Amino acid sequence: MSTKTLKPDAAASGTITLGGDLTIHRMGFGAMRLTGDWGAPEGLASANRLLRHLGKLGINFIDTADCYGPEINELIIGEALPHFPKDMIVSTKGGLIRGGPQWFQSDGRPEYLRQCVELSLRRLRVDHFDLYQLHRIDKKVPVEDTLRALKEFQKAGKIRHIGLSEVSVAEIEQAQKVVPIVSVQNRYNFGDRKSDDVLNYCEKHGLGFIAWFPMASGELTKPGGKLDQAAQSHGVTVGQLALAWLLHRSPAIIPIPGTSSIAHLEENTAASSLRLTDDEWKEIEKAYN
Ligand SMILES: NC(=O)c1ccc[n+]([C@@H]2O[C@H](COP(=O)([O-])OP(=O)(O)OC[C@H]3O[C@@H](n4cnc5c(N)ncnc54)[C@H](OP(=O)(O)O)[C@@H]3O)[C@@H](O)[C@H]2O)c1
Repeated sequence: MSTKTLKPDAAASGTITLGGDLTIHRMGFGAMRLTGDWGAPEGLASANRLLRHLGKLGINFIDTADCYGPEINELIIGEALPHFPKDMIVSTKGGLIRGGPQWFQSDGRPEYLRQCVELSLRRLRVDHFDLYQLHRIDKKVPVEDTLRALKEFQKAGKIRHIGLSEVSVAEIEQAQKVVPIVSVQNRYNFGDRKSDDVLNYCEKHGLGFIAWFPMASGELTKPGGKLDQAAQSHGVTVGQLALAWLLHRSPAIIPIPGTSSIAHLEENTAASSLRLTDDEWKEIEKAYN
C-alpha cells in the first residue's frame, strides 16, 4: 500500500496543559512494551536506542509504571534520562503489585504507596515527579487514605501533579475531594469506548485523558479490520488512522501507543500530522457500529 508521507513529529499533535502548568505534546509514548511480560527485555540495546529516539520525534511524554518489568522499565528509562531533551516528562504509576507475569494486585495502603514513590524516584533518578499516577484504586483501602499519602509527597515537593488510572466518574469526584486530580488513564480506542463518560468528564473539567491500549495491542494496526478500507483510501496505515482518530475525538486525549520498534514508533508518531475533514471522520465513524 502506498502511504502518505507524514512527518513523524509529535509537535503536530498539538499540546495539552495538565494542572495549569504542565504542557506536553498530545502524542505520547507508552513504555510498557520495552520490557517483556517478565524480566529484562532480550533487546535491551534496542530499547535504549528507541528511548533515545523519542526526543528526536518531538515526543515529550513517557508513561511507565513500577510494575512494568517489574522495576526494569523504570530502570532503563532512568539510565536513558541524560539523553532526553530537557522538556521530557516521565510519568510513572504505583499501587499495583506484580507478583508474576500475569499476576497483578492493587495495594493502596499508604505505607505501600510511600514505598512505591520513593523507589520509583530512585529508579528513575529524579528528585520529583511532574505527574504521578495511582495505577489502581484498591477497594480494600479507603481511597482517601491512599491519596493522602500522595498528597504528603506533593507538599514535600516530590510530586507535582496526581493522576488516576482505570476509574469511573464517581471515583474521580471522590478523589478530587482529597487532592486535585489532573489526569485519568483509562483503556480507550476506536473499537472500545466504554470510558466515553469518563472522557467527556475529563474534557469538560480540564483533565487530561491518557488513552492506554490506543491500538488495541496491535489489533487496530492489522489490515482487514474495520478501519482498513478507510486507511487505504486515505493512503495511511490502519494504526495511523486509529491514532489520528483519538487525537480528533477529543482535545483531552493523550494517546500513548506502545512499541518496541523504531519503525513503528515513527509510523505512529506520524499520525500526529494526519488531518481529515469532519465529513471524512463521519464516514469513518460508520465503521464503528
Ligand atoms: N493504566 C493501565 O492500566 C495500563 C495498562 C496497560 C498499558 N498501559 C500503558 O499503555 C501503553 C499502551 O498500551 P499497550 O502497549 O497495551 O497497547 P497498544 O499501544 O494499543 O499496542 C501496542 C502493541 O501494538 C504493536 N504496535 C505498535 N505500533 C505498531 C505499528 N505501527 N504497526 C504494527 N504493530 C504496532 C506493538 O508491537 P511492536 O512492539 O511490534 O510495535 C505492541 O504489541 C503501555 O505501553 C502502557 O504505558 C496502561
